[in-house]
Amino acid sequence: MPMETRKLSKSIGVEVIGIDLSASIDDDSFADIERRFDENTVVLFRDQRLTPQQHIDFARCFGELEINVMNDYALASFPEVLVISNVVENGRQIGLADAGRNWHTDMSYMPRPPRGSLLYALKVPEKAGRVLGDTLFVSTAAAYDALPAETKERLEGLKAIHRSSARIRNAESRTERATARGNALPDVVHPVVRTHPVTGRRSIYVREGECIGIIGMPDEEALPLIRALSDFCIRPELMYRHEWRVGDLLMWDNCTAQHLAVNDYELPLERLMYRVTVNGTVPF
Ligand code: OGA
Ligand code: MN
Repeated sequence: MPMETRKLSKSIGVEVIGIDLSASIDDDSFADIERRFDENTVVLFRDQRLTPQQHIDFARCFGELEINVMNDYALASFPEVLVISNVVENGRQIGLADAGRNWHTDMSYMPRPPRGSLLYALKVPEKAGRVLGDTLFVSTAAAYDALPAETKERLEGLKAIHRSSARIRNAESRTERATARGNALPDVVHPVVRTHPVTGRRSIYVREGECIGIIGMPDEEALPLIRALSDFCIRPELMYRHEWRVGDLLMWDNCTAQHLAVNDYELPLERLMYRVTVNGTVPF
């Protein structure tokens, strides 16, 4: 039986309907899901009831997992699970409260950025019947396709320098945290135009706020180019806005998407998400 699916928007995202991710998935069904992930960049599964272990087990089908060692917001006993939340318990922030509040792709500052991130919704803020805390996605592959031919030519072979945004912020604010994790990470270099390792599709892989320059190009030229490409990616027609429901498992491909967490809620409205991250390959 073919898997039942529904497109989420014109250029990005598909919902896979009728699959229970807490049960084991046969090889053919998984191959089908993986193909849809590679081709659609964002995949949504609704109405799931996953334990952290089941979330991990499903993510593990896509590859090795990121282990959040030394991370304050790893879930107790599950270092693969990162807690994304504004919830405070016993005076302590239980999760990363401000994840993704600027457009970004996850961890592009790593030599091997993650293939995918799987976010599972446990608490979704709501006010007067309106859901808050949406997440926006754009297809950076559709953005690349839409570039004028001469821009594509200009970008050919260019490499951008990526820096952890925590490190950029630390440098600007010179806070105590400056010496922590973010600052320990060296800059990395990735192609401005990435090729998807499975589909071969090309995509824009730069983002203002994470890329601090382009190799061999003066900043006066590189910074406006990074800004222009960043702006070009986030046009509404390339966008999918996800309105969360408890039980949503949403995953995205970090090669062909950028995303943004909409910051439109605060305590006492609570949001709680668990993220599991699948390791990726060296961008080319
Ligand atoms: C993330 C992220 C967005 C959100 O977990 O990588 O960007 O809406 N989250 O929580
Ligand atoms: Mn993110």
